[in-house]
Amino acid sequence: MGYKITVERATTSQIGDIDFNHLPFGKHFADHMFVADYRDGDWHDCRIVPFGNFMMHPALSSLHYGQSIFEGLKAEKDSEGNPIIFRPLKNFNRFNISADRMAMPEVPQELFMNAIDKLVTLDRDWIPTTPDSSLYIRPYMFATEEFVGIKPAEHFRFVIFTGPVGAYYNRPVKVFIHDKYVRAFPGGVGYAKCAGNYGAVMMPTREVQKMGYDQILWLDGIYHRHLQEIGTMNVFAIIDGVIITPSLDQGTILDGVTRDSMVRIAENEGYTVQERDVSIDEIIHAYHEGKLEDMFGTGTAAVVSHIGEFHYKGENYELPPVESREISNKLKSRLTSIKSGKAEDIFNWLHTVPVSVYANQ
Ligand SMILES: Cc1ncc(COP(=O)(O)O)c(C=O)c1O
Repeated sequence: MGYKITVERATTSQIGDIDFNHLPFGKHFADHMFVADYRDGDWHDCRIVPFGNFMMHPALSSLHYGQSIFEGLKAEKDSEGNPIIFRPLKNFNRFNISADRMAMPEVPQELFMNAIDKLVTLDRDWIPTTPDSSLYIRPYMFATEEFVGIKPAEHFRFVIFTGPVGAYYNRPVKVFIHDKYVRAFPGGVGYAKCAGNYGAVMMPTREVQKMGYDQILWLDGIYHRHLQEIGTMNVFAIIDGVIITPSLDQGTILDGVTRDSMVRIAENEGYTVQERDVSIDEIIHAYHEGKLEDMFGTGTAAVVSHIGEFHYKGENYELPPVESREISNKLKSRLTSIKSGKAEDIFNWLHTVPVSVYANQ
């Protein structure tokens, strides 16, 4: 095997235009991107090139039929200034799970990881060192065949770009629990990080945002009763000291890397964690009994976002002040210190870019 990645360097860098002390999320892009094209059953022309536009055929099949998937992960710098990436193999596995569901080709681990290592090394000056910031890495794949008609495409493009980002939500979020729209259902594509899952939630999300909420907390698609996830985050509740999060069994929610990391850290700290069906009735009941201590979302973008308030069937429910939420604050700080290389990596989660990649640049 072996995929050779060629490198064409940008002649000028845009880095001087960036205010690293005030980084918005998702608006700045580093100087280079990785591109590979799939045809005749394999990946070809693996290349790092200056960040820039693609030319597109108007009948590009992903635009019409939605064979399009993506991932999101982050790089930071350790105390010596070396790039470290948090659990990239989890994202790699999930990328291929999404690809399989959308009848798209697998990306070999060697190609995925080498492309990220090389790209992050080349643009390492773009990794911010200001608090709560990091270099966001966005791998994605889309069908590039040019035709009209419904059939799985045979040509695809795999791209990775990166960009420096600051904190996503830096205040508690207000969520709206919908009993009208649904995001996913068993047998569907809820567990895949495919573009259609995000397109489908735009209109309901815009509706709740007009009413002053940040995000929707989705309920299951059949009974409209069990908690699913929030926007681009998995959801957790703490009832009477027990940490509860919806299980992955139905295939309706994303298997979040942050979710898994929180569960493992919490178990390691001696907390009881339950991955199971969580009904909205149970949440409301615990709230009225004074036992609902906390609710929060987890995701790569925000790490942990506390829910300040939720709305369900015409009622608003206010949750305790964030400062009093000892368990989630502790778990969040454990996770962020592992991610940034400040705490011991007891789970072996950090990927350090191999020195051989530096040597070749
Ligand atoms: C729908 C959805 N749920 C949950 C998550 C959280 O997953 P992770 O922790 O891997 O970022 C994301 C973000 O990727 C998402 O898009």
